[in-house]
Amino acid sequence: MRQKKGDAPGFSVYAMDRAMKTTTLTLRKLKGQRPIVATTAYDVITARYAAEAGVDLILVGDSVGDTLLGFDSTIPVTLDMMAHHTAAVARARPEALVAADVPFAEAHFECERVLAACQRLLQQAGAEAVKIEGGARIAPLIARLTGAGVPVWGHIGLEPQQVRVLGRYRKFGVEPAEAERLLADALALERAGCFALLLEMTEPNLARTITETVKIPTIGIGAGPHCDGQILVCTDLLGLTPGPVPSFVQTFAAVGAEVKKGFAAYVRAVRARKFPQ
Ligand code: KIV
Repeated sequence: MRQKKGDAPGFSVYAMDRAMKTTTLTLRKLKGQRPIVATTAYDVITARYAAEAGVDLILVGDSVGDTLLGFDSTIPVTLDMMAHHTAAVARARPEALVAADVPFAEAHFECERVLAACQRLLQQAGAEAVKIEGGARIAPLIARLTGAGVPVWGHIGLEPQQVRVLGRYRKFGVEPAEAERLLADALALERAGCFALLLEMTEPNLARTITETVKIPTIGIGAGPHCDGQILVCTDLLGLTPGPVPSFVQTFAAVGAEVKKGFAAYVRAVRARKFPQ
């Protein structure tokens, strides 16, 4: 029997049957039609709200490490953590496509182990695609994965999993040699079968060139207005991040302030014996 909306939550093998279900093909067809809207989510509630608002693509990002789990980077995030949060998002059964990050260093093991990580995220956790950081150097691996049926979203420009090597987060593709290398990365990932590319902190004119050169959609973060779509970290765009946010972020709600107000009102009500009545 097919699951309908409202059935007990769980990953449905029939998800692809739902009329509005976004697939990698839907996203590819959106290139040149209208901007693709993506956000991160790490739990069922946020995923439901995002999907109901019309978001096309939900990334269970390894940014869960520094946004929700209290780490100072994405490096400590493990495959177990990714599977745990991906399963929560998949239980929302959103119409948006759900992609999950392959966490730190995992993509540098031999292909069988990376395939096993993807298998866990897709078969057990309910992701519908994976995102992997890295350019031409991992294109052969990505070709093996896409050949095995794993939908891969490439990620170039700033690769946060390289932060210990880079020493800091910075813009990419300002210098001509780096710009040339990133364009070659984009083409290598397209050839390897990626269904989309994430361009992070990529110089906007280079992001435009990449977007105009590849046939797959580009989704930017801190990469200017010329990409085929945009992604922001949900806590940043909702005004829930307690500290400073990157300069490219626009905040579209003040959820953090509302949460604080709500807790303060609760504390006042209990202390004044106004709750429960
Ligand atoms: O993990 C993450 O949130 C990301 C962002 C760059 C979107 O990869």
